[in-house]
Amino acid sequence: KQPNIVVVGSINMDIVVKTSRFPEGGETILGDEIHFIPGGKGANQAVALARLGAQVTMIGAIGLDPFGRTLMTSMVDSGVNCDYIKIKGEASTGTASITLTPDENSIVVVPGANAKLDASDVQQVETLIHAADAVLLQLEVPLETVEYAAALAEKHGKIVILNPAPAQPLPESLLRRVHVITPNRTELEALTGITLGERPPEEAVDKLLESGVRCVVTTLGSEGSMWKCREGSLQRQSGYRMNVVDTTGAGDAFNAGLAYALCADRGIADAVSFAAKVSGLAVTKFGAQDGMPTMADVKTYFHE
Ligand code: RIB
Ligand code: NA
Repeated sequence: KQPNIVVVGSINMDIVVKTSRFPEGGETILGDEIHFIPGGKGANQAVALARLGAQVTMIGAIGLDPFGRTLMTSMVDSGVNCDYIKIKGEASTGTASITLTPDENSIVVVPGANAKLDASDVQQVETLIHAADAVLLQLEVPLETVEYAAALAEKHGKIVILNPAPAQPLPESLLRRVHVITPNRTELEALTGITLGERPPEEAVDKLLESGVRCVVTTLGSEGSMWKCREGSLQRQSGYRMNVVDTTGAGDAFNAGLAYALCADRGIADAVSFAAKVSGLAVTKFGAQDGMPTMADVKTYFHE
């Protein structure tokens, strides 16, 4: 069956600067390239889902400016329903200033219009949530909006998938409505207050399960991922070795793959494995949104 998913989240223009190293405080250096490309965790996940073949509605906000128009076009071109995206005329479209160096990336997000997305914007699409299989959430829009969306999804008995990025602690009132949460190591630490260092994540995973989440899927970068559900044991999925071009949006691709497979009634093990494939292909291309694979790409590469 074709998954039907509502994504509530951010829409950003990614301003990507490629440079050999980070400047020191107070220092000016010359960079190599600059690119203006579509991003934002919510929009990236929506585009990835649409390319996989899901029916996707994006709930988010942009400003009344050229970035906003470009971002809307990018999503529409990939097949995302953008009919309910709000234009917040008083704010500017969200941006992410991304510095890519050969060893590390850093990102500064200025939320702009994303910060204005409120509960009433989500409430307007209650009938769409009712018709969907799942609601997919991240943390680049206000927490009250995320909480409202989760509550509405719960009211209609929908699957709630939360990508808790960027890292922050969350109230139990939200966590107990979440079926699947997908933290990386840093996010797992922020959510549980446990400093993991090099230690395996199980203690923190158990703490999250105690707060009411049903399944925790932890992404561990090149080490792949681990997951545990309330009535199960800790399981592992190794990552795929790919030719890495740009890891920006890898997490978004993973979440989209996971949500897609869960809504297609594939079990959690199968869904995590599919997510790893989608994410593996995403890092082989430049750009968060532009690099998202289609279902045909996944089938061709992995013989799915
Ligand atoms: O997850 C990657 C995304 O995070 C980027 O596209 C950037 O916009 C930031 O929101
Ligand atoms: Na990419």
